[in-house]
This record gives sequence, C-alpha cells and structure tokens, in this order.
Amino acid sequence: MKRTARCGIIAAMLLAASAHAQSPAADEAVLPPAVLAHASGEQIFQHICQGCHMPDARGATGAGTYPALAKDANLESAAFAAATVLSGRRDMPAFGPRTDLQGFEAMLHVDLDDAQIAAVVNYIRSHFGNHYADTLSAADVAALHPPTPHKP
Ligand code: HEC
Repeated sequence: MKRTARCGIIAAMLLAASAHAQSPAADEAVLPPAVLAHASGEQIFQHICQGCHMPDARGATGAGTYPALAKDANLESAAFAAATVLSGRRDMPAFGPRTDLQGFEAMLHVDLDDAQIAAVVNYIRSHFGNHYADTLSAADVAALHPPTPHKP
C-alpha cells in the first residue's frame, strides 16, 4: 500500500517534469532552494503544486487522481489545507520537514517552511474561484506540526 502510494508520487513527479520539459518558458523549471526561499504563494503554486493540480487548479486524472483546488469547498478550513500540505494525505506528498527519507525519495522531497506553506495556502484559498478572506500565518502552520513528525 505504502509502496503503491510512493510509486504514484514518483510517477506524478516524472509527469510533472516532462510537462516542464515541453514548456517553452524557462522559468517553469523547478526552483532552486535559494530562490524558493523568497518565492510568493503564487510562485510556489506554479513551480510545485500545479504539476499535479494543473495550472488552473482544476485537478487531473491520469497516472493518479489529483483533486481540483478550484472552487474547493474543503478549503473553507485553512487548517485542513495547511495540514494536507504539511503532512501529506494518501498520494499527496508531505512538504513539511522529513528526516526519514533516503536516496531518490530524499532527492524528490521539497521542504517548505511554515511561512511558505502559509503563503501557498493563502494563495489557493483566494484564487481559482475560492474567496476565503481569512489568512494563515506561519505561526498558525507551526501549531499544526505533528508532535513526532513522519516516523518511518
Ligand atoms: C505529486 C502530486 C501532488 C503535488 C506536487 C501536490 N499535490 Fe496536493 N494533492 C495531491 C493528491 C493526490 C491529493 C488528494 C489526496 C487525497 O487522497 O485526499 C491532493 C490533495 C490536496 C489538497 C486537499 C484538497 C481536498 O479538497 O481534499 C490540498 C489543499 C492540496 N493538495 C494542496 C496542494 C498544494 C498547495 C501543493 C503545492 C505545495 C500541492 N497540493 C502539491 C497531489 C499533489
């Protein structure tokens, strides 16, 4: 079960990479960490999330099922959205800190800090037909960290 989920993630990453390779826009390449550190919620969405959720956030079905974030009633809960990004959910990868990954999986893992998770969640909750006015801070995301994160 766990293995299938991981294969799905890798397949999605490869799909995302090939989508990037076909794009004429050089700025759609994966962001180097030094650039990512200063990225806005919109840039994080464009460089990381849209590979699975699609540029218009309408989701996709193919190698896996990627839910729409456009007009997504589940985003009413900012905490649900942030916890999903922080800790992952089934085939959605965790973007919070991981210390248990090795090799290829460690290479593929993208670490977002609490401020970056807050920024991208605030972005998706106020775009793509979502109009949630309340916003999350980095401290709100910090409070969502599991007490003992991601034990192998
Ligand atoms: C590798 C593919 C992949 C990437 C990259 C990805 N997601 Fe997801 N995401 C998923 C999948 C698959 C689900 C469905 C999880 C489930 O089964 O509940 C999901 C679910 C979600 C949900 C919950 C939606 C709902 O209504 O249940 C949110 C919010 C979300 N993703 C936000 C993001 C954000 C923000 C990013 C970028 C930081 C991102 N995702 C990157 C695959 C991905």
